[in-house]
Amino acid sequence: MTGQVRGVQLARLLGQWHALPGRRRSPDYAALAGTVRGLLADGRLPLGVRLPAERELAEALRISRTTVTAAYRQLRETGHLASRRGAGSWTMLPGNHRVASTGLWTPLDDREMLDLGVAALAAPPQLLSAARAATEDLPRYLSGAGYHPTGIIELREAVADAYTARGLPTSADQIMVTSGTQHALDLVLRLALAPGGTVLVESPTYPNALAALAGRRARITTHGLAADGGWEPDLLLGSLRQTRPKLAYLIPEFQNPTGHLMPASLRERVVAAAHAVGTDLIIDESFVDLSMDGTELPPPVATYDRHSRVISIGGMSKPYWGGLRIGWVRASAPQVQRLAAVRVGVDMASPVLDQLVAVHLLADAEAIVADRRVQLAVQRDALLGALAHRLPEWRVTVPRGGVTLWAELDGPVSSALARATEEVGVRLAPGPRFGLDGTLERFLRLPFTLPAADLVEAVGRIAAVRYDLDRAGRQRWREPAVIA
Ligand SMILES: Cc1ncc(COP(=O)(O)O)c(C=O)c1O
Repeated sequence: MTGQVRGVQLARLLGQWHALPGRRRSPDYAALAGTVRGLLADGRLPLGVRLPAERELAEALRISRTTVTAAYRQLRETGHLASRRGAGSWTMLPGNHRVASTGLWTPLDDREMLDLGVAALAAPPQLLSAARAATEDLPRYLSGAGYHPTGIIELREAVADAYTARGLPTSADQIMVTSGTQHALDLVLRLALAPGGTVLVESPTYPNALAALAGRRARITTHGLAADGGWEPDLLLGSLRQTRPKLAYLIPEFQNPTGHLMPASLRERVVAAAHAVGTDLIIDESFVDLSMDGTELPPPVATYDRHSRVISIGGMSKPYWGGLRIGWVRASAPQVQRLAAVRVGVDMASPVLDQLVAVHLLADAEAIVADRRVQLAVQRDALLGALAHRLPEWRVTVPRGGVTLWAELDGPVSSALARATEEVGVRLAPGPRFGLDGTLERFLRLPFTLPAADLVEAVGRIAAVRYDLDRAGRQRWREPAVIA
């Protein structure tokens, strides 16, 4: 079990369960059970969480206890709830299903699925030769114990050089290699945030960052991004000044999910405002290499930092390959030493061989990244073309980089659509996954990391399902096939 959800919390998540489309003929208990299944399918209600006692939920929903009892019974019958006398009831899934990184349920052997839930590319062809070359280098490390908490020096130097080349002079002792950007974020949070500390994030934002923050028991405040323009400077600076968060987590380059690029002027003002109120900035540069259409990048946010307020994190996953699990932190040298001390209590160090592979890939960065940009631009344009053709009512801002676009739908149907497309072999990450409070139902993140033909096929299937929802008069509360 991972925890417990209280009656009022579940009631909030359940929202308008009693007024859902298509439930006119179904009894209350079935509607309640169906909504719980929907929340499980979206990943908004975690697996293994203990549900409130029947009486508590009945009180929170202001319904009879019998209705809750019947709903729980139905959830047990469908395999979504396990109960043990005295221990309560906790959420589970029927059959052979698990939770994907997107929070959506996936069958283990589902290779036919067009997965638009994950915004990452397959490995580049150069990966194999880099891996072979790395094995040739390995003997140089085999006489030592192999623990390098801040990373092997060759990789730290290569990463530092890349920052310097971006106009931000950086030395190897300012770099700590991590096992991915997600790991970098987690380590920085361990170092910089006490439980209950306040963190400002963009809304929408990267869901696994929200998960990392939840793991550190952060209190989260949000800055809402405008669908077309991105950050609203006065509002962002105003929130920093008013809430004075301990940390702010921002993705200034081709923000996930919206694709926005923060202009230089705002970067400078954010750093100044953060320093004035005592906020440290975690700047996630996951997509910094992936600009398109010749878009010039503003200077790195850390360029404006004079007081070690900015901790930059980044990694190999987006331009190279997620399976490599190599990321890094750029901070002051003393901060890197403190992070290394924290890290020793977590995972000691990253694998030497993988770091050597990363060194070889970075040595070939220019060619690999140039290919990636071309590939992504072609795929983005194929996705945009298919959307314009099949779903012309949806509004999209064309991203000038990164791997995702953030579509504004023609209605608040994102979660319903994601449930329906599972049945036609397309996995989607619906808008609410990128926020905190179950809103963003009018939005959908669409990555362009699959081959163009797959993207066009996926949009065709999404469009068919979208119009089916309409033909049914938006009556049906569809459940994912994997659960039904
Ligand atoms: C903004 C952002 N940060 C971090 C990550 C995680 O990256 P990594 O695979 O390097 O841990 C991702 C991956 O999608 C991301 O989009």
